[in-house]
Amino acid sequence: MTSSSVLPTYNRAPLSFVKGEGVWLEEADGRRFLDLGAGIAVNVLGHANPELTQALTEQAGKLWHTSNLYQMPLQEALADKLTDATFADKVFFTNSGTEACELAVKMLRKYWYEKGQPERVEIITFTGSFHGRSSAAMAAAGSEKMTKGFGPVLGGFTHLEWGDIAALREAVSENTAAVMLEPIQGEGGIHVLPDADLKAIREICDSVGALLVLDEVQCGVGRTGKLFAHEWAGITPDIMMVAKGIGGGFPLGALLATDEAASGMVAGTHGSTYGGNPLGCAVGNKVLDIVAEPEFLAEVNKRAGFMRQKLEGLVAAHPDVFESVRGVGLMMGLRCKAANLDVVNAGYAHEVITVPAADNAIRLLPPLNITEDEISEAIARLDKAATDVEGKG
Ligand SMILES: Cc1ncc(COP(=O)(O)O)c(C=O)c1O
Repeated sequence: MTSSSVLPTYNRAPLSFVKGEGVWLEEADGRRFLDLGAGIAVNVLGHANPELTQALTEQAGKLWHTSNLYQMPLQEALADKLTDATFADKVFFTNSGTEACELAVKMLRKYWYEKGQPERVEIITFTGSFHGRSSAAMAAAGSEKMTKGFGPVLGGFTHLEWGDIAALREAVSENTAAVMLEPIQGEGGIHVLPDADLKAIREICDSVGALLVLDEVQCGVGRTGKLFAHEWAGITPDIMMVAKGIGGGFPLGALLATDEAASGMVAGTHGSTYGGNPLGCAVGNKVLDIVAEPEFLAEVNKRAGFMRQKLEGLVAAHPDVFESVRGVGLMMGLRCKAANLDVVNAGYAHEVITVPAADNAIRLLPPLNITEDEISEAIARLDKAATDVEGKG
């Protein structure tokens, strides 16, 4: 392979996709891959979705960009839809999940500063988390793998063992600004926090007046069969990070907050040139119109049930390759016994795309409108891939 001019921060698979349609991706050589990765939980309505394409191209013909110096009607419309559908009162639009995390940290600091407690800066997070790659986001996750060589790491974060509710109860104090977590860890390997634990975390936050920040960048926007994953637990956060699915493939993110949590963020405290620009919001409005429909979410749950059953069968048929199925809705993971990258690569050979994660897992995050036939086809391809991995073992 010739040397690339692109900064080599990714180990890229030798695949160049040139076209997409629904759950299918076409490689430059003409092979058609079944995409269970959806660009890591991004293409919630599949590739080249006609309704999203229409929303984007219609807007592209009218106006691409103005500035947040002016009124932004499409932003207002999308913010209204998001606040109507959630706990939130206010929305700030970003271009990515990382930027949403960055604002969450700033918002927390400003909140406690304005409350007359500027020293209240401790944010408690959990091992195995992923919140992005900015200085604040990598400090929040805190793993050595991410932060090594990039010190001094932003202070103010305390890291507890994932799911250790007793340790959290011990750790919180009058200095705890917030607890921040993903209801389902994505990059960490599809670790689902039980509903009872999320409820307990909400109560623990309330016991000391700390805020709860949920990172739904990967698990939000219909992925679990609810619009947002925390809805399963019947609790609400004070602040929530959203990205990936909300743009359906167009770079768009958002930070959602209650009026109270957002109260310190007045004019001049934050900004973004592109955040919430007309193209992103035209697509975001359409995504939300489709995904927030109860009938759409009911279908996600139905297909998720079908897929889970098929995956249980796959694991049972290949006990030397797979250990277990985990996840909620169409955010599924297979913990592997074989090396997860071997499974992903064997999948490529059979033209099915999965995404590796930590904890020797692979992730299955298909477009939410994948059909049962496509799920069956994907499982048949994974079955062949697993047989290949067994042959090598
Ligand atoms: C849970 C979570 N938070 C934040 C991020 C960062 O989002 P982005 O890559 O859009 O900056 C990701 C990305 O994978 C994520 O999964």
